[in-house]
Amino acid sequence: MNQASFLNPEIRMMYESDLHEVVRIEREIFLFPWTLGNFRDSLKTDYLCRVMEHNHIILGYSILMIGPDEAHILTLGINPQWQRRGLGEKMLHYLIDLAIEKGAKSVLLDVRESNQGAARLYRQLGFEQIATRKGYYPAMCGREDALVMRLVL
Ligand SMILES: CC(C)(COP(=O)(O)OP(=O)(O)OC[C@H]1O[C@@H](n2cnc3c(N)ncnc32)[C@H](O)[C@@H]1OP(=O)(O)O)[C@@H](O)C(=O)NCCC(=O)NCCS
Repeated sequence: MNQASFLNPEIRMMYESDLHEVVRIEREIFLFPWTLGNFRDSLKTDYLCRVMEHNHIILGYSILMIGPDEAHILTLGINPQWQRRGLGEKMLHYLIDLAIEKGAKSVLLDVRESNQGAARLYRQLGFEQIATRKGYYPAMCGREDALVMRLVL
């Protein structure tokens, strides 16, 4: 259910000053989180790093890499207190629009096979699974496959 329609969160560029909170959220939502260094490196490159914010609270974040024809969503996270309110979907629509604006022909992402909630959201927005990367992710017991999903723009 989309309960966040009363919110009008802003999506803006991510800054170094956001990283403490972004990494705090990242550690809450991922078993194998990106490090502060990973986010810093992303800010230094030409990746499109964004946060979703409302009343100075960071609700979510994402990083998009633009290639020659394809855009890649490198990470996407919503603050656990604000999940299942339509914010992940909102961020995805924003990223898709941004990819179109930058001239991408498709948007790609990897998702853990066990992350059925996220995969469901991606399918709802038109992403389709195009490949599997065997043992791509570390897991508690060994490795886990990644589903490679693509949205043709
Ligand atoms: C996955 C994630 C980005 C989704 O964002 P969100 O704001 O919670 O999701 P939304 O409210 O926009 O979900 C829209 C729809 O997607 C599907 N969905 C999203 N999360 C789901 C879940 N955990 N289980 C089942 N369906 C889910 C549902 O169909 C949902 O609609 P509904 O709530 O009306 O049933 C967010 O839950 C998150 O940050 N999870 C942890 C990190 C992560 O897995 N990131 C993605 C890595 S690839």
